[in-house]
Amino acid sequence: MKMYILAIVFISNLFAQVDYNTQIQTIFNANCTSCHMYGNASGGLTLTSYSGVMTNSNSGASVVPGDHANSLLWQKVNSGDMPQNNPDLNSDEVDLIAQWIDEGALEVQLSIIDETLPITYNLQNAYPNPFNPVTTLRYDLPEDALVNITIYDMMGRIVSNLVSSQQNAGYNSIQWDATNNTGQPVSAGLYLYTIQAGKFRQTKKMVLLK
Ligand code: HEC
Repeated sequence: MKMYILAIVFISNLFAQVDYNTQIQTIFNANCTSCHMYGNASGGLTLTSYSGVMTNSNSGASVVPGDHANSLLWQKVNSGDMPQNNPDLNSDEVDLIAQWIDEGALEVQLSIIDETLPITYNLQNAYPNPFNPVTTLRYDLPEDALVNITIYDMMGRIVSNLVSSQQNAGYNSIQWDATNNTGQPVSAGLYLYTIQAGKFRQTKKMVLLK
């Protein structure tokens, strides 16, 4: 349980993470790169790309990941020393740079990597439900798995082996057009759909209206 809460706190922190390419590089492009281009003499510092920013300038590293106060880059924009000859960055931009450095000065957001994968297996409710003539079944796979999704009628007879394949982890979905294994439309009524993926198994109900 404690682990679970920790995981939620960790993930919600990640949501607020600054994205280097859309939030930080854009500040440099608008205010700094006219001078800090590759091969330029501006302190030996290139600000046209992430790798340039993280490469040592004449004074050494301009970014100390996790420590904005000791990062030359932040010191220069916070003091108004940079952009040289140009209007200072506004306080939101200075704070964003500080936050980005304190979060580890990463190029790719951890949240983007993490959010793409579900934490647990889950079979979601069919939507729409009741339905006619098509419904969508969504299911979450935290890891790659051999997935079987089977549709049964009220008597427990197999109507359709809708999915039977090895699938990648992620948020997946499949549509069911209310036909059986021979392609015939099935009659109105209650149907059960079961997902089996690894050791996970879950069954839900859906209703076909005619
Ligand atoms: C008009 C040209 C110009 C602009 C625009 C400019 N700089 Fe500079 N920058 C310089 C020059 C010249 C130096 C080297 C002399 C110095 O440190 O004052 C320098 C030095 C630096 C240094 C120190 C590098 C070292 O090794 O000492 C940092 C960090 C820096 N700039 C960051 C920035 C940032 C961030 C921006 C944009 C927000 C920016 N600069 C915009 C001209 C500019």
